[in-house]
Amino acid sequence: PLKTPKDGLFSATSWQESSDLSGFNVRKDESTVSITVVGASGDLAKKKIFPALFALYYEDFLPKHFTIYGYARSKMTDEELRNMVSKTLTCRIDKRENCGEKMEEFLKRCFYHSGQYDSLKNFAELGKKLCQHEAGRIANRLFYLSIPPNIFIDAVRCASSSASSTSGWTRVIVEKPFGRDSESSAALTRGLKQYLKEEQIFRIDHYLGKELVENLSVLRFSNLIFEPLWSRQYIRNVQLIFSEDFGTEGRGGYFDHYGIIRDIMQNHLLQILALFAMETPISLDAEDIRNEKVKVLRSMRPLKLSDVIIGQYKSHTRGGVTYPGYTDDKTVPKDSLTPTFAAAALFIDNARWDGVPFLMKAGKALHTRRAEIRVQFRHVPGNLYNRNFGTDLDQATNELVIRVQPDEAIYLKINNKVPGLGMRLDRSNLNLHYAARYSKEIPDAYERLLLDAIEGERRLFIRSDELDAAWALFTPLLKELEKKKVHPEYYPYGSRGPIGAHYLAARYNVRWG
Ligand code: NDP
Ligand code: BG6
Repeated sequence: PLKTPKDGLFSATSWQESSDLSGFNVRKDESTVSITVVGASGDLAKKKIFPALFALYYEDFLPKHFTIYGYARSKMTDEELRNMVSKTLTCRIDKRENCGEKMEEFLKRCFYHSGQYDSLKNFAELGKKLCQHEAGRIANRLFYLSIPPNIFIDAVRCASSSASSTSGWTRVIVEKPFGRDSESSAALTRGLKQYLKEEQIFRIDHYLGKELVENLSVLRFSNLIFEPLWSRQYIRNVQLIFSEDFGTEGRGGYFDHYGIIRDIMQNHLLQILALFAMETPISLDAEDIRNEKVKVLRSMRPLKLSDVIIGQYKSHTRGGVTYPGYTDDKTVPKDSLTPTFAAAALFIDNARWDGVPFLMKAGKALHTRRAEIRVQFRHVPGNLYNRNFGTDLDQATNELVIRVQPDEAIYLKINNKVPGLGMRLDRSNLNLHYAARYSKEIPDAYERLLLDAIEGERRLFIRSDELDAAWALFTPLLKELEKKKVHPEYYPYGSRGPIGAHYLAARYNVRWG
């Protein structure tokens, strides 16, 4: 659904939900939203959550009555929190003159409470403060768990027992990682469900909030020309590529416990794949979409070791500058085998996709930063032009590229005639380049997701059965890699990654885009 400021915040669904939960039929303007950022002193809160909340406020998407609380163990006053937060707020949406004023207004709505994550008492104190701000209105409460996963359950137990709403809804946003494998993920889900109902849990995969990922379904289902081609009959292969031009700097401790397969493939890339490959949902309703995603995930073959290659970046000197290797990070063991790069071939065993390789590639410290979906189409049967003008067959196939970031774009590579009296073929792009087409800056994924959580829109959040299906695909591989202590192929910082990725793709007649 299209969203405009304030529109939808009190839509039929949320209104209905408030009344259902509270048992009262109260006027919609009597409700308030309290957002508690648990782990407010941390990196994600500063970098993403507070700036996204400010952007929503700035764009007039937050309800009239709202309060934001930071919660963490660090000692801080309200003023200190505001100082900390103000450093990362920007008026990036556009340079309107009143941005400074807006920031001041926003910061006045931000408060801080210091407490332990496992203290019922501390959460009860927070609850009391929230009550004061809510001033008798229907109180809707959103908790954003921006903390390490080992304390998720404690925080949920305390928040739900001591600080949940008694009149409105209570929702909890949970950040990844959702476990390390099927078993730990199931344990986390069980733990969360002791205190929350599934509909209160909003598992975030911020890639689902990215504009071009959201646009994937629009592209597919609202244009006549794509959906008929969206199958094994016309598509040769699909590539899902994530590459960063920096290493794990500063997050080595976390990363070494997870590795690139868990950090990027099992969630971000697999979620994109599910949206890409799912059947047409009955409606745009969250449950209908998530049902289709689960179906496609369950139709996939678990990954085999022979269909995966892993790599790890090593130090490299270029132009007199030495870039550190992964194990040069002090928080990473010197003999770590954790992959910082992986490439894999996945298959969906259903009628639509039988035999089509879905190739994933994800890596840190590579030569470029990009996230892309590349769809390579089959050759034109009996290609007339290829026969008569000797075009390179590979060159002649169409390719659709959805560039998720940076410089968002969707372009289709087509063949055309070079203008002139001769007959020469060329390849050109039909290009939807977002920066050229739209003057407005694209919102950050966290803005979309926070707004959806406030509105109770679950479409872009991961349901527990989706999570189970995603882990079922990767867990056997991850266990085998660890059990066999498979050594990663080393690649220099800033390179294109291990050569093994090319051999893997070549086995399926694919050339990486
Ligand atoms: P931090 O490591 O910065 O932790 C957030 C806060 O949690 C800290 O400020 C600290 O607050 C508290 N904390 C940290 N370690 C412990 C501990 N061992 N025991 C108790 N409290 C602790 O995490 P991030 O902000 O980077 O990330 C938050 C969550 O989001 C994590 O689950 C992370 O995996 C996930 N995530 C992070 C991303 C990022 O870019 N940073 C990206 C995607 C997901 P205090 O000491 O004040 O209590
Ligand atoms: C996070 C990963 O989920 O996504 C990080 O934990 C990665 O390792 C990040 O850097 C990438 O997100 P984005 O939005 O910057 O592409």
